[in-house]
Amino acid sequence: MRAIPGTDPPTFVCEDKAEAARAIADEIETIVRKDATPVIGLATGSTPIGAYQELVRRHNEDGLSFERTTVFNLDEFIGLPPKHPLAFRTWIRANLCAQLDLWPALIRFPDVNAPDLAAAGRAYEEEIRTAGGVDLQLLGIGRNGHIGFNEPGAALDSRTREVELHPWTREDAAPQFDGLQNVPQRAMTMGVATILDAKRLRVLAFGARKAEIVRATLEAERNAAVPSTWLRGHPDVRLYVDREAAALIET
Ligand code: F6R
Repeated sequence: MRAIPGTDPPTFVCEDKAEAARAIADEIETIVRKDATPVIGLATGSTPIGAYQELVRRHNEDGLSFERTTVFNLDEFIGLPPKHPLAFRTWIRANLCAQLDLWPALIRFPDVNAPDLAAAGRAYEEEIRTAGGVDLQLLGIGRNGHIGFNEPGAALDSRTREVELHPWTREDAAPQFDGLQNVPQRAMTMGVATILDAKRLRVLAFGARKAEIVRATLEAERNAAVPSTWLRGHPDVRLYVDREAAALIET
Protein backbone atom coordinates (compact mmCIF):
# COMPACT_ATOMS: atom_id res chain seq x y z
CA MET A 1 0.00 0.00 0.00
CA ARG A 2 1.14 3.53 -0.72
CA ALA A 3 0.50 6.65 1.36
CA ILE A 4 -0.49 9.74 -0.60
CA PRO A 5 1.57 12.53 0.98
CA GLY A 6 -0.16 15.55 2.43
CA THR A 7 -3.69 14.14 2.48
CA ASP A 8 -6.24 14.67 5.24
CA PRO A 9 -7.60 12.16 6.10
CA PRO A 10 -4.24 10.43 5.59
CA THR A 11 -4.98 8.29 2.53
CA PHE A 12 -3.50 4.94 1.56
CA VAL A 13 -3.91 3.38 -1.86
CA CYS A 14 -4.07 -0.41 -1.54
CA GLU A 15 -3.13 -2.97 -4.18
CA ASP A 16 -6.60 -4.44 -3.79
CA LYS A 17 -9.47 -4.76 -1.32
CA ALA A 18 -7.79 -7.76 0.31
CA GLU A 19 -4.80 -5.65 1.33
CA ALA A 20 -7.10 -3.08 2.94
CA ALA A 21 -9.04 -5.86 4.67
CA ARG A 22 -5.82 -7.25 6.16
CA ALA A 23 -4.73 -3.80 7.38
CA ILE A 24 -8.06 -3.31 9.17
CA ALA A 25 -8.04 -6.85 10.58
CA ASP A 26 -4.45 -6.35 11.85
CA GLU A 27 -5.47 -3.29 13.83
CA ILE A 28 -8.61 -4.86 15.21
CA GLU A 29 -6.64 -7.98 16.16
CA THR A 30 -4.08 -5.89 18.06
CA ILE A 31 -6.82 -4.09 20.01
CA VAL A 32 -8.77 -7.27 20.72
CA ARG A 33 -5.68 -9.12 21.94
CA LYS A 34 -4.26 -6.30 24.09
CA ASP A 35 -7.22 -4.47 25.54
CA ALA A 36 -9.07 -5.89 28.55
CA THR A 37 -12.41 -4.56 27.26
CA PRO A 38 -12.09 -3.86 23.53
CA VAL A 39 -14.78 -1.77 21.84
CA ILE A 40 -15.13 -1.87 18.07
CA GLY A 41 -17.53 0.21 15.97
CA LEU A 42 -19.00 -1.66 12.99
CA ALA A 43 -20.41 -0.56 9.65
CA THR A 44 -22.64 -2.54 7.31
CA GLY A 45 -22.69 -2.38 3.52
CA SER A 46 -20.52 -4.00 0.87
CA THR A 47 -17.25 -2.24 1.73
CA PRO A 48 -16.29 -3.84 5.08
CA ILE A 49 -17.16 -7.42 4.06
CA GLY A 50 -13.55 -8.37 3.24
CA ALA A 51 -12.35 -7.14 6.64
CA TYR A 52 -15.10 -9.13 8.35
CA GLN A 53 -14.19 -12.28 6.40
CA GLU A 54 -10.58 -11.82 7.44
CA LEU A 55 -11.58 -11.50 11.11
CA VAL A 56 -13.68 -14.66 10.85
CA ARG A 57 -10.73 -16.46 9.25
CA ARG A 58 -8.42 -15.37 12.08
CA HIS A 59 -11.00 -16.49 14.63
CA ASN A 60 -11.29 -19.93 12.99
CA GLU A 61 -7.64 -20.52 12.09
CA ASP A 62 -5.64 -18.52 14.65
CA GLY A 63 -8.00 -18.68 17.63
CA LEU A 64 -8.54 -14.91 17.75
CA SER A 65 -11.21 -14.50 20.43
CA PHE A 66 -13.81 -11.74 20.69
CA GLU A 67 -15.19 -12.89 24.04
CA ARG A 68 -14.36 -9.62 25.78
CA THR A 69 -15.23 -7.38 22.84
CA THR A 70 -18.23 -5.06 22.66
CA VAL A 71 -19.40 -3.94 19.22
CA PHE A 72 -21.44 -0.81 18.58
CA ASN A 73 -23.13 -0.65 15.20
CA LEU A 74 -23.27 2.66 13.40
CA ASP A 75 -26.85 2.66 12.28
CA GLU A 76 -30.11 0.79 11.64
CA PHE A 77 -33.22 1.28 9.48
CA ILE A 78 -36.46 2.22 11.19
CA GLY A 79 -39.64 0.28 10.45
CA LEU A 80 -38.39 -3.11 9.28
CA PRO A 81 -39.78 -6.25 10.94
CA PRO A 82 -37.28 -7.65 13.50
CA LYS A 83 -35.91 -10.53 11.40
CA HIS A 84 -36.00 -8.71 8.06
CA PRO A 85 -32.96 -9.96 6.06
CA LEU A 86 -31.92 -6.41 5.18
CA ALA A 87 -32.15 -5.04 8.73
CA PHE A 88 -28.56 -4.22 9.68
CA ARG A 89 -28.99 -6.29 12.82
CA THR A 90 -29.70 -9.37 10.69
CA TRP A 91 -26.96 -8.48 8.21
CA ILE A 92 -24.21 -7.97 10.76
CA ARG A 93 -25.20 -11.15 12.59
CA ALA A 94 -25.08 -13.19 9.35
CA ASN A 95 -21.87 -11.65 7.99
CA LEU A 96 -19.86 -11.39 11.18
CA CYS A 97 -21.27 -11.91 14.64
CA ALA A 98 -22.70 -15.42 14.21
CA GLN A 99 -19.26 -16.60 13.10
CA LEU A 100 -17.35 -15.11 16.04
CA ASP A 101 -17.49 -15.76 19.79
CA LEU A 102 -18.99 -12.39 20.68
CA TRP A 103 -21.47 -12.35 23.57
CA PRO A 104 -24.91 -11.52 22.13
CA ALA A 105 -25.42 -8.97 24.93
CA LEU A 106 -22.31 -7.10 23.77
CA ILE A 107 -23.58 -6.65 20.19
CA ARG A 108 -25.19 -3.23 20.41
CA PHE A 109 -27.49 -1.28 18.05
CA PRO A 110 -29.48 1.91 18.47
CA ASP A 111 -32.95 0.76 19.61
CA VAL A 112 -35.10 1.62 16.61
CA ASN A 113 -38.14 -0.05 18.22
CA ALA A 114 -38.13 2.17 21.30
CA PRO A 115 -41.29 4.24 21.85
CA ASP A 116 -39.12 7.36 22.32
CA LEU A 117 -36.34 7.44 19.72
CA ALA A 118 -34.75 10.61 21.12
CA ALA A 119 -34.37 8.86 24.49
CA ALA A 120 -33.07 5.75 22.69
CA GLY A 121 -30.43 7.91 21.00
CA ARG A 122 -29.33 9.35 24.34
CA ALA A 123 -29.25 5.86 25.85
CA TYR A 124 -26.97 4.65 23.03
CA GLU A 125 -24.57 7.53 23.66
CA GLU A 126 -24.54 6.62 27.34
CA GLU A 127 -23.87 2.95 26.55
CA ILE A 128 -20.88 3.93 24.40
CA ARG A 129 -19.54 6.18 27.16
CA THR A 130 -20.02 3.50 29.80
CA ALA A 131 -18.14 1.01 27.63
CA GLY A 132 -15.19 3.43 27.67
CA GLY A 133 -15.68 4.79 24.14
CA VAL A 134 -15.01 3.18 20.77
CA ASP A 135 -11.39 2.05 20.27
CA LEU A 136 -11.72 1.69 16.49
CA GLN A 137 -14.66 2.71 14.33
CA LEU A 138 -14.96 1.26 10.82
CA LEU A 139 -16.65 3.46 8.24
CA GLY A 140 -17.71 3.36 4.62
CA ILE A 141 -18.64 6.48 2.68
CA GLY A 142 -21.90 6.94 0.79
CA ARG A 143 -21.80 8.46 -2.70
CA ASN A 144 -23.23 11.63 -1.16
CA GLY A 145 -20.55 11.71 1.53
CA HIS A 146 -22.64 10.20 4.30
CA ILE A 147 -20.84 8.53 7.18
CA GLY A 148 -23.14 6.23 9.08
CA PHE A 149 -26.47 7.70 8.00
CA ASN A 150 -25.28 11.25 8.60
CA GLU A 151 -26.63 12.55 5.33
CA PRO A 152 -25.69 15.93 3.76
CA GLY A 153 -26.65 18.62 6.27
CA ALA A 154 -25.56 16.58 9.32
CA ALA A 155 -23.97 18.87 11.88
CA LEU A 156 -20.54 18.43 13.41
CA ASP A 157 -22.09 18.24 16.89
CA SER A 158 -24.81 15.72 15.96
CA ARG A 159 -25.34 12.70 18.22
CA THR A 160 -27.22 9.41 17.88
CA ARG A 161 -30.67 10.25 16.56
CA GLU A 162 -33.46 9.55 14.09
CA VAL A 163 -32.74 10.76 10.55
CA GLU A 164 -34.44 10.87 7.17
CA LEU A 165 -32.56 8.97 4.49
CA HIS A 166 -31.26 10.91 1.48
CA PRO A 167 -32.72 10.04 -1.97
CA TRP A 168 -29.35 8.63 -3.16
CA THR A 169 -29.09 6.40 -0.10
CA ARG A 170 -32.55 5.00 -0.78
CA GLU A 171 -31.78 4.62 -4.51
CA ASP A 172 -28.59 2.71 -3.75
CA ALA A 173 -30.54 0.37 -1.46
CA ALA A 174 -33.48 -0.09 -3.87
CA PRO A 175 -32.15 -3.13 -5.81
CA GLN A 176 -31.67 -5.14 -2.60
CA PHE A 177 -35.12 -4.14 -1.38
CA ASP A 178 -36.72 -5.03 -4.74
CA GLY A 179 -37.75 -1.46 -5.40
CA LEU A 180 -37.53 2.02 -3.96
CA GLN A 181 -41.01 1.75 -2.45
CA ASN A 182 -39.73 -0.93 -0.03
CA VAL A 183 -36.71 1.04 1.20
CA PRO A 184 -37.26 2.58 4.64
CA GLN A 185 -37.52 6.37 4.76
CA ARG A 186 -35.90 6.74 8.16
CA ALA A 187 -33.09 5.33 10.26
CA MET A 188 -31.19 5.85 13.48
CA THR A 189 -27.50 6.63 13.27
CA MET A 190 -24.58 7.55 15.50
CA GLY A 191 -24.03 11.27 15.00
CA VAL A 192 -20.98 12.96 13.52
CA ALA A 193 -19.78 13.87 17.01
CA THR A 194 -20.35 10.29 18.18
CA ILE A 195 -18.21 9.00 15.32
CA LEU A 196 -15.46 11.58 15.86
CA ASP A 197 -15.24 10.59 19.54
CA ALA A 198 -13.81 7.19 18.51
CA LYS A 199 -10.12 6.83 19.28
CA ARG A 200 -9.35 5.56 15.76
CA LEU A 201 -11.37 5.98 12.58
CA ARG A 202 -10.70 3.61 9.70
CA VAL A 203 -12.52 4.52 6.53
CA LEU A 204 -12.79 2.31 3.45
CA ALA A 205 -13.83 3.26 -0.10
CA PHE A 206 -13.57 0.94 -3.08
CA GLY A 207 -14.40 1.13 -6.77
CA ALA A 208 -14.83 3.79 -9.42
CA ARG A 209 -18.25 4.83 -8.11
CA LYS A 210 -16.55 6.16 -4.95
CA ALA A 211 -13.82 8.13 -6.80
CA GLU A 212 -15.72 11.42 -6.83
CA ILE A 213 -16.70 11.29 -3.16
CA VAL A 214 -13.14 10.31 -2.18
CA ARG A 215 -11.92 13.43 -3.94
CA ALA A 216 -14.58 15.56 -2.24
CA THR A 217 -13.74 14.05 1.16
CA LEU A 218 -10.16 15.27 0.74
CA GLU A 219 -10.74 18.49 -1.16
CA ALA A 220 -14.22 19.96 -0.60
CA GLU A 221 -14.76 22.69 1.95
CA ARG A 222 -15.09 21.09 5.38
CA ASN A 223 -18.79 21.46 6.04
CA ALA A 224 -22.10 19.66 6.44
CA ALA A 225 -22.79 19.52 2.68
CA VAL A 226 -20.26 16.66 2.48
CA PRO A 227 -20.36 14.95 5.89
CA SER A 228 -17.23 12.88 5.20
CA THR A 229 -15.22 16.14 5.25
CA TRP A 230 -15.92 16.22 9.01
CA LEU A 231 -13.40 13.36 9.29
CA ARG A 232 -10.55 15.74 8.51
CA GLY A 233 -8.51 16.76 11.50
CA HIS A 234 -9.39 13.72 13.62
CA PRO A 235 -6.21 12.80 15.55
CA ASP A 236 -6.17 9.19 14.30
CA VAL A 237 -8.08 8.75 11.05
CA ARG A 238 -7.01 6.79 7.96
CA LEU A 239 -8.70 6.37 4.61
CA TYR A 240 -7.96 3.16 2.69
CA VAL A 241 -8.89 3.15 -0.98
CA ASP A 242 -8.28 0.89 -3.95
CA ARG A 243 -6.84 2.25 -7.21
CA GLU A 244 -10.26 2.79 -8.75
CA ALA A 245 -11.49 4.88 -5.82
CA ALA A 246 -8.20 6.81 -5.90
CA ALA A 247 -8.52 7.65 -9.60
CA LEU A 248 -9.28 11.36 -9.07
CA ILE A 249 -6.78 12.04 -6.29
CA GLU A 250 -3.65 10.45 -7.69
CA THR A 251 -1.01 13.01 -8.50
C1 F6R B 1 -23.40 1.39 6.84
C2 F6R B 1 -23.33 2.84 6.72
C3 F6R B 1 -23.11 3.53 5.43
C4 F6R B 1 -22.20 2.78 4.45
C5 F6R B 1 -22.08 3.54 3.14
C6 F6R B 1 -21.27 2.80 2.10
O1 F6R B 1 -23.60 1.00 8.18
O2 F6R B 1 -23.50 3.48 7.70
O3 F6R B 1 -22.56 4.81 5.69
O4 F6R B 1 -20.93 2.61 5.01
O5 F6R B 1 -23.36 3.77 2.60
O6 F6R B 1 -21.97 1.64 1.75
P1 F6R B 1 -21.28 0.51 0.84
O7 F6R B 1 -20.18 -0.06 1.65
O8 F6R B 1 -22.37 -0.50 0.61
O9 F6R B 1 -20.82 1.19 -0.40
